[in-house]
Amino acid sequence: MKKLLALLCVAAMLFTGSVIAAADEELPTVVILGTGGTIAGTGEAGKTTGYSAGELDIQSLIDGVPGIEKLAKLQGEQVLNTASDNVTDKDWIVLANRINELAKDPKIAGFVITHGTDTLEETAYFLDLTVKTDKPVICVGAMRPATATSADGPLNLYQSVALARSPEAVGQGVMVVFSDGIFSARQVTKITTYRTNAFDGKDFGALGYMVDDKPYFYTKDVRPHTTATPFDVSGLEELPKVGVAYFHIDAEQEIIDMFMDRYDGVIVAGAGNGSMSTLWHNRIKERVDGGDSTIVVRAGRMDNGIVTEYATNPQTIAGNNLNPQKARILLQLCLTLTHDREVIRDYFAKY
Ligand code: SIN
Repeated sequence: MKKLLALLCVAAMLFTGSVIAAADEELPTVVILGTGGTIAGTGEAGKTTGYSAGELDIQSLIDGVPGIEKLAKLQGEQVLNTASDNVTDKDWIVLANRINELAKDPKIAGFVITHGTDTLEETAYFLDLTVKTDKPVICVGAMRPATATSADGPLNLYQSVALARSPEAVGQGVMVVFSDGIFSARQVTKITTYRTNAFDGKDFGALGYMVDDKPYFYTKDVRPHTTATPFDVSGLEELPKVGVAYFHIDAEQEIIDMFMDRYDGVIVAGAGNGSMSTLWHNRIKERVDGGDSTIVVRAGRMDNGIVTEYATNPQTIAGNNLNPQKARILLQLCLTLTHDREVIRDYFAKY
């Protein structure tokens, strides 16, 4: 009897061991798409400034993160390697289409995009509206180059991979992980030029926290995103041209004229409720009533609050609570589908 029990114990240990080995082998796959930025930057050892962004390749970034290999099987791809101020709409389309293609692979659990922080929120929101998958897509960067003392990139990347493979992140749209925070692509914005807690979700804060490799969610973005939008960039090479006209005291009429002459759509980065001078208002009215098909959207120069419709100026569209750079992206995508002002007005109320 004792022998039988001992045999059973050995068999159980062997069985348990083989389950652990199998679990190791069955780590989820996370694809990391590298685009450059400070996270891939190098400079003088220890210094946080005076470096070059977009120097290290994606494999070097992965190799610089202790323990990351225990989170997931990692597949790195270099899409581009530049400062994010150089990213173009063509790069966005390549990125979205690549994610959409890879997302069909059932072995892939999620995606991380390494990116410069300057325009991270723009790429994140573009992907939020155009990737067609429920799998997590996490955008991440760093404020300090890889060669700085206390570089923030490695922990941000570690936490991004942890979130990208996590079941709680499925269906939450594109997110940004930064300095232990999880932010929705729609709300997130860069809030400091220099410090490492560089992102915030404006009026709505963070969706949650990362603590080491564990996400804690407290809220969610209720606006339609990813699979629930009509925006499809699969057949496109570039997006319609939309400019941002920054309103300020004494802004001349020539400025709004120049933007309306030049672009398919114009975002006015307005004061207060997306407001602008009577001069600009009247000029937009005059041009639109005279048959100018340029779509003009009013957004707010400040980070918080909602821009509402003006009953007295239906020639413009309210940008809701999108900041000007995000309103630009939504208008570009709207213009791939329609030039109907009222349909676009509905899109701005919805997305
Ligand atoms: C960039 O956006 O590429 C440079 C700044 C940064 O990544 O923090």
